[in-house]
Amino acid sequence: NSKNLARDLNADGFIARFGGVFEHSPWIAEAALAADPGLLHADVGRLHAAMASVLRAAGPERQLVVLRAHPDLAGKLALAGELTADSSAEQAGAGLDRCTAEEFARFQELNDHYQSKFGFPFIIAVRGLDRHDILRAFEKRVGNTPEQEFQTALGQVERIALLRLYQITGQPQHDLG
Ligand code: GUN
Repeated sequence: NSKNLARDLNADGFIARFGGVFEHSPWIAEAALAADPGLLHADVGRLHAAMASVLRAAGPERQLVVLRAHPDLAGKLALAGELTADSSAEQAGAGLDRCTAEEFARFQELNDHYQSKFGFPFIIAVRGLDRHDILRAFEKRVGNTPEQEFQTALGQVERIALLRLYQITGQPQHDLG
């Protein structure tokens, strides 16, 4: 049954496979597995629900650490080639490595403005979006209140995790909005 994605994995294998689903935050996969060893035999929907509840239960301080673990989009780490493989592939998939000098400068301005207003980087699940869509969403979200934006960012982190789970497992995607 190809939906039992993690079967034949032990706990170490599970973390090796799914630890990066939340950027630089393998503790989320670890805590989810500790709470429910049955995740070794779960499909994407169940894995994602379990990891998302760990993040939701973690409280605002640890949630903020997770948000801050994300690199800027079209930022200096990307230029320096220092992203995780997932982030690099996602940014390239949205064409962020092909920004004009003007677009790149606009990203830097928005990144700085957003970071100083909210205290974490702008995070958006970029799959299916191009750099114009992303800049438009960026311009809009920078006007949100901190409370709104914290919740929006957490929702995007969960969506990025879901997309990564589908990517890793090859399970067909059917429940994406
Ligand atoms: N959206 C998808 N991946 C990433 C990432 O690594 N960083 C940010 N800021 N947004 C993303």
